[in-house]
Amino acid sequence: MAKRIDGKVISKQIKDELKEEVAQLKAKGIEGSLAVIQVGNDPASSVYVNNKKKACEYIGIGSISYELPEETTEAELLDIIEDLNKREDVCGILVQLPVPKHIDEDKIIQAISPKKDVDGFHPQSVGAMTIGEPGFLSCTPAGIIQLLKRSNIEIEGKHCVVIGRSNIVGKPMALLMLRENATVTIAHSKTKNLKELCKQADILIVAIGKPKFIDESYVKEGAVVIDVGIHRNEENKLCGDVDFEKVEPHTSAITPVPGGVGPMTIAMLMNNCVESMRGQK
Ligand code: GUN
Repeated sequence: MAKRIDGKVISKQIKDELKEEVAQLKAKGIEGSLAVIQVGNDPASSVYVNNKKKACEYIGIGSISYELPEETTEAELLDIIEDLNKREDVCGILVQLPVPKHIDEDKIIQAISPKKDVDGFHPQSVGAMTIGEPGFLSCTPAGIIQLLKRSNIEIEGKHCVVIGRSNIVGKPMALLMLRENATVTIAHSKTKNLKELCKQADILIVAIGKPKFIDESYVKEGAVVIDVGIHRNEENKLCGDVDFEKVEPHTSAITPVPGGVGPMTIAMLMNNCVESMRGQK
């Protein structure tokens, strides 16, 4: 029987642990707020931003919200970030992506102080992760490591195939699995023998961005399957990159969509905020 990895339960565990820690930090006079900046009013971004603010409230840290108009200039956004970098009451700065096209995303990411880069997107954070130095970890990949560890799934020595090579998920995911002593293969849209490769995976992590792309023909019997995708199907229901009904019977453990990887991203964002409050990074 496949074990369903419940991201809702595990993310709540993490947030409850953080809530306790925030209370202890507050008792020592240590406080901090997360600054959340949204430029424009993309509805999906608004949902994510709201969930992030709600999570701050849940664990007991402040959130400072900037809802900026679509026309905001790059210079205006950089000024706000510069101010937030200096503020001692701000432990983290998050600019919700994507930003409007007239703003250079890389420039914005690089303007955020690495000490407040709770998304883990700054090149300094990425470099630190690559060589195993302290720094904020990208939230979705760090959340997947927590899902595996807290489900008692062994990573060391396992063959992990990651499908996807984005800066936010695929690349950091591969590095974190390597750090856990997995043998890692990165596959992507140009990979020739994708099915054969996936069939060799003990742990298959799918971030391909195509609804229900992975069926049972890609999965070794008894593999662990982690689905990073999130889409709405024709019936307006949420689904992932994996065809869950077809794949689940062939796995030893699998994440559903929704309720798998999704809730972990925000839990790890909160973890990064608390690490920043502790002054660890
Ligand atoms: N847009 C989609 N995912 C993310 C995320 O994890 N962080 C930010 N800042 N923007 C996003």
